[in-house]
Amino acid sequence: MARRLALAVLAASILTTAVTGTVVVAQSDVIKTRQGLLKEFGRVTKPIGGMLKGEPFDLATVQTALDTYVKNAKELPNLFPEGSGTGDTGALPAIWAAGSDFKARFAKFETDAVAARAAITDEASFKATMPGLIRQCGGCHDSYRKKS
Ligand code: HEC
Repeated sequence: MARRLALAVLAASILTTAVTGTVVVAQSDVIKTRQGLLKEFGRVTKPIGGMLKGEPFDLATVQTALDTYVKNAKELPNLFPEGSGTGDTGALPAIWAAGSDFKARFAKFETDAVAARAAITDEASFKATMPGLIRQCGGCHDSYRKKS
């Protein structure tokens, strides 16, 4: 009887450890996944910055960036679940605070990127449209990302 109880307790504690372990893994996964998408933002935005500073304009590169913005901005809001603000992350607690407009910013960024994809057809429309769009990167970082 006592042995059976001990086994049951042991089994329960193994189960608890397994479940807790899964939660920890799931959170570091979600952090890695969102950081991967944001790294991609960084990668495609680099040549955009170059073009705004006078490097030759290339419409296809701009369109690739805009497509990446739209695609990743759809996924990103779901990759910041409550409780994923600790560990190896640059996310600030303000993301989950009452009144946070964090998710709304990604939604706006997506909408504006869709509009920019249609509006940008040449260098003039690029220069008129793109600065306002990529200003939203830093705008969000100012409130919601740790300063490195
Ligand atoms: C709505 C808010 C928001 C917007 C818009 C946004 N970011 Fe971020 N960004 C974040 C947050 C929060 C982090 C930290 C994520 C983490 O570490 O968990 C981050 C992290 C990053 C990182 C570091 C990723 C890593 O860990 O290596 C890069 C690069 C980046 N963002 C680039 C951009 C660029 C470029 C844009 C615009 C095209 C952009 N971000 C738009 C909120 C935003």
